[in-house]
Parts: sequence; C-alpha cells; structure tokens
Amino acid sequence: MNAPVQPLNGTPLLVARQRNNAWSSRLTFILAAAGSAVGLGNVWKFPYIVGEHGGGAFVLVYLACIALIGLPILMAEILIGRRGGGSPIHGFRSLAVREGHSPNWQLIGWMGVGCAFLILSFYSVVAGWSLSYLAYAIDGRFGGANLAAGEDTAQVMGELFASLLASPETLIVCHSLVMAATMLIVANGIRSGLERAARWMVPGIFVLLLALVIYAATSSGQFGNALAFLFRPDVSALTWEAVLVALGHAFFTLSVGMTAMMAYGAHLQKRVSIPKAALAIAGLDTLVALLAGLAIFPLVFANGLEPGAGPGLIFVTLPIAFAQMPGGGIIASLFFLFLGLAALTSTISILEPVVQYFEQRRGRSRRSTTLIIGIAIWLLGIGAALAFNVWSHITILDKNLFDFLDFATSSVLLPLGGLLIAVYTGRVLSRSALSDELGCGKSTLFRLWHFVLRYITPLGVGLVVFYNLV
Ligand code: PHE
Repeated sequence: MNAPVQPLNGTPLLVARQRNNAWSSRLTFILAAAGSAVGLGNVWKFPYIVGEHGGGAFVLVYLACIALIGLPILMAEILIGRRGGGSPIHGFRSLAVREGHSPNWQLIGWMGVGCAFLILSFYSVVAGWSLSYLAYAIDGRFGGANLAAGEDTAQVMGELFASLLASPETLIVCHSLVMAATMLIVANGIRSGLERAARWMVPGIFVLLLALVIYAATSSGQFGNALAFLFRPDVSALTWEAVLVALGHAFFTLSVGMTAMMAYGAHLQKRVSIPKAALAIAGLDTLVALLAGLAIFPLVFANGLEPGAGPGLIFVTLPIAFAQMPGGGIIASLFFLFLGLAALTSTISILEPVVQYFEQRRGRSRRSTTLIIGIAIWLLGIGAALAFNVWSHITILDKNLFDFLDFATSSVLLPLGGLLIAVYTGRVLSRSALSDELGCGKSTLFRLWHFVLRYITPLGVGLVVFYNLV
C-alpha cells in the first residue's frame, strides 16, 4: 500500500485528507457523478446511434443494457472506490490484499487510469468542437438571414464542419481551452473544484435541455413523430450489431469501466446508500439521453432531414435545421452552450482518477500533479486534433489517431475494464464485505446484483469485446 499514513496532529494524513476532500452531501455527489455521466455520449453519440440503428427497438435494448449491466457495474465501481479509500489503483490493490488475493489486481486500476488518459485526449477535442460551434452560433452563422439567397443550407453547413476539421489552429485552440478549464477545476480539489463546478453546471445543463425540449415540442409540429421514433420499437430494424453498440455505449455513457466513478466514490461518506445513489445517477443519465433525442429529432424531422446521418448529426444536420427556423441562432447558442457544459462536467471526471493516483503516489501537490498530467494529455490531444488534417495520413490499424483512440478506448478498453471490475467484485471481494458496504444485507436485490456481476456481465461484455476485436 503506498498511501502515506503518517500522523498529523494524531490523525493519519490520508484520513485527514479524505475528510477535507469528501463530497459535502449526497446531493453534491449525485450531481457531480451525473455530471460525469451526462456528456457528449448523451447529446452527440446517443441520438446519432439511435438514428443509425432504426430508433425504438434500439432504445429498448439500450435501456435493458443500462439496467442489467451498466447499473450493476456502476454500483460496483462506487463501492470499490469508497471501500478502497485512496486512488483507484490503490483501491484495487488494498481490497484484494485485504481479502487474501494477489496485489496484481491493481492492474485493473492501471488499465483504467491509462484508459482515462487516452479518452480525455480525444474527448477534449470533440468538446472543443462544441466551443467552436457556440462561437459560430453567437456570431450568427446559423441565422437563416446570414445565408446568401439561393445558397444551399446543407452544403454550407457541411462545409462549415469540414472547414473546422481542416483547421489545425482552431481545433488546437479549442482543445486547449477545454483542457485549461478542466485542469483549473481539478486543481482545486473535490470541494472547491469539482463540487463547486457541478453545483451550478449540472442544474444549468438540465434547465437548458428542458428549454430546448419545450421549444422542439411546441414549435416543430413533429414532436409526436420524434416520440414514435424513439419509443415505438420496430424489432425488424434491430441487428446483432445494434445490440453490441447499445451495450458498448451503456459503459461510455455511465462513465464506467475506467475508474472515474471509483475516483468519485472514494470521497463518498459511508452513510450514503450506494444502490440509491447509483440508481439516481443512471436515471438522470438516461433521462438526459432521451430528452436530448426529444430536443433534436423533432427539429430534424420538421426540416425534412434524415435521423441516420451519423456523427455529423448535431454538427451538420442540426445546424441545417437551426438555419431554417425562426430564432435559430438563439436556439443554436443555447444548444452548444448546453453541450459544452455537459462535456466539461465529464472531462473533469476523466482527469480526476489520473490526478488522484499520481498525487497519492508521488506525494506531490494536487496543483502541480494536475499541471503535469494535464499537459501530457493536452499533447496527446494535439495529435488527435491533427489527425483530421496534417496528420491524416498517419494510421494505426487503418485508423487515424483520433479514430484509433476512440476505438481502443470505447470499443475495447472500457468494456474490458467493466468486465474485469465485474469479475473482481463478483469473485475477489467477499460477499460479506460487499453487503457491508452496500448496506442492504443479503436481500434478494443483493443476490441478484451479485449473480449479474458473476455471470451475466462477463458473458455479455466478453461478447462485445470479442466482436469489436474480431
Ligand atoms: N459518460 C461520458 C459521456 O457520456 C463520457 C465519459 C466516459 C466520462 C468515461 C467519464 C468516463 O459523455
């Protein structure tokens, strides 16, 4: 165990630090964790994968994946984080040793922290796109009046996105701004950094999203069609690939599989019920994904556009809709502000476990650790940004650096991390330790959760990893 346990006025240092650094209430923990979960995954990715995979039936499978696989792993991650106490790597190691197992289980933590490092590098680039788009919106580029008569809106919006990707300077400036904001928040620690940010940003995210849904519902005349698209399952549109995509996305959207939720759980007070908190986090995350669909699809349908446009859905298709509707510029500004905030409450949670580990390991201050780690991730992110332009010829496994980072993390490392966390919880930690930490005895719910982690999750997730690799 590498936690510094030296007396500090009679109090072990680690304990003292935890007390200073614990979430101040259950609500702030839930807000911060929901902030982590709600991000580009909900607003950028979820709507476009629903669009690509035919709507309602996909949503149904996705909901099942969240409830049956995502939620149990989310509970497990928070549990390991809280019981382990220190950084994720330390947590995996100390709990395994306490139960008489090999310290090598800390490798799951290493994998998670490494995965966080990689995810943040390209996630920050996409978060940067939303900053650019916020600037475009404020600049009036999505106001219909600014388009010259006879100009083809679809072409203009397609070119706008292409020109953003072709500009290394813009991409790097926006990525740098996102990283700087993320580092600033994380450097200030749990209470004065992450918690303070989550307190106003997460409610802000909800208010903006509700305003957008109300707008879409009242102005588009297509709300019913959007509801039907999301909730009327057409099983014939479902493929095996869609099932695997839904399962993979369940990890990404709940932020599980890479120790972010462990890092947050490490600061959670003992009296808070983990099952209830996890349910609230997963519930809020799912609500935001569905509401994002209800904000986006009515506008897409009302303007005669296609829901299956892929990753360009909110950066090309939606702007076409903005440009065609009255007041589109204002709605676009609100939308990209909402997207930027949602991304930022996620980026801080991706940086946190990496900083926690090096802070604890090296005994350096949080500020200098954040600076060093942040700069390293920023540098890798520059590579991800250049993959769209000057470095587009550099490929790994036939993918440019950006696509490779996305594939390696979202399709392989996150599901694999989730699988290992399930195995670790279900087979390394004792039932008595688990039920003690969850505080729900050996109830039916506990047994069900334990069964899922031991059997269902490894099977389901193993299938996804295998599919993605082969
Ligand atoms: N859950 C975030 C989203 O949906 C992404 C994320 C993944 C955040 C992993 C933290 C850890 O955008």
